[in-house]
Amino acid sequence: MDPRIAEIADGIYRISIYVPEIAPPAGFTFNHFLVLGDEPLLFHTGFRRMFPHARGALARIIPPERLRWISFGHYEADESGALNEWLAVAPQAQAVHGQTGVMVSLNDVADRPPRILADGEVLEIGGRRLRWIDTPHIPHGWDAGVLFDERTATLLCGDLFTHVGDGPAVTDGDVVGPAIAAEDIFRYSSLNPGMAATIRRLADAAPRTLAIMHGSSFAGDGAAALRALAADYDRRVRAALA
Ligand SMILES: [Fe+2]
Ligand SMILES: [Fe+2]
Repeated sequence: MDPRIAEIADGIYRISIYVPEIAPPAGFTFNHFLVLGDEPLLFHTGFRRMFPHARGALARIIPPERLRWISFGHYEADESGALNEWLAVAPQAQAVHGQTGVMVSLNDVADRPPRILADGEVLEIGGRRLRWIDTPHIPHGWDAGVLFDERTATLLCGDLFTHVGDGPAVTDGDVVGPAIAAEDIFRYSSLNPGMAATIRRLADAAPRTLAIMHGSSFAGDGAAALRALAADYDRRVRAALA
């Protein structure tokens, strides 16, 4: 595992770990995003077993003990498995998540008390404002949510747009087609009638960068990509009900 680091938007770093054994021959990436500010935030802790690698990579950007906030899309091993490892190396750090995630999981599993963000609430991290948006069950997890960086219009969109392969850190090419293909492979989304509407609501923020947990990040018209993804989920829900 040789993490690769790239700045995908001003002050937002992608730490990418490629695992060729998952979904061969393309392989699969696990991406952790460091958002710089006076109070740096990490989005996705990574697996516990990846922690030494992710920590070593992050240390090439900032001292890990400077981390102040740790967040993720939903409670799951790749998103949040190493939460307590990060809390141990960063004494000032605190988990931050939506109300459901805190009440259902983090109040119990986090080694220090987490902070709740209400739907639409802004977290100030010093020079940067990150807005939490609840996306329950989308693409999976009752506690699911995303963070939107207002300064760079970057949507930290977690498992949305998951795709296989070890592409460039940032692409301006198609990320919708590869995401549809990955949905066909993994069936990772909780199909539900409200799904497309929730994804379209994210488009209202008009993101210019999509920070994608599995696959390349996307630079371009994020709203158009989100609406195209929503249209495909509409199609899947209709097909499931037919
Ligand atoms: Fe997930
Ligand atoms: Fe994930």
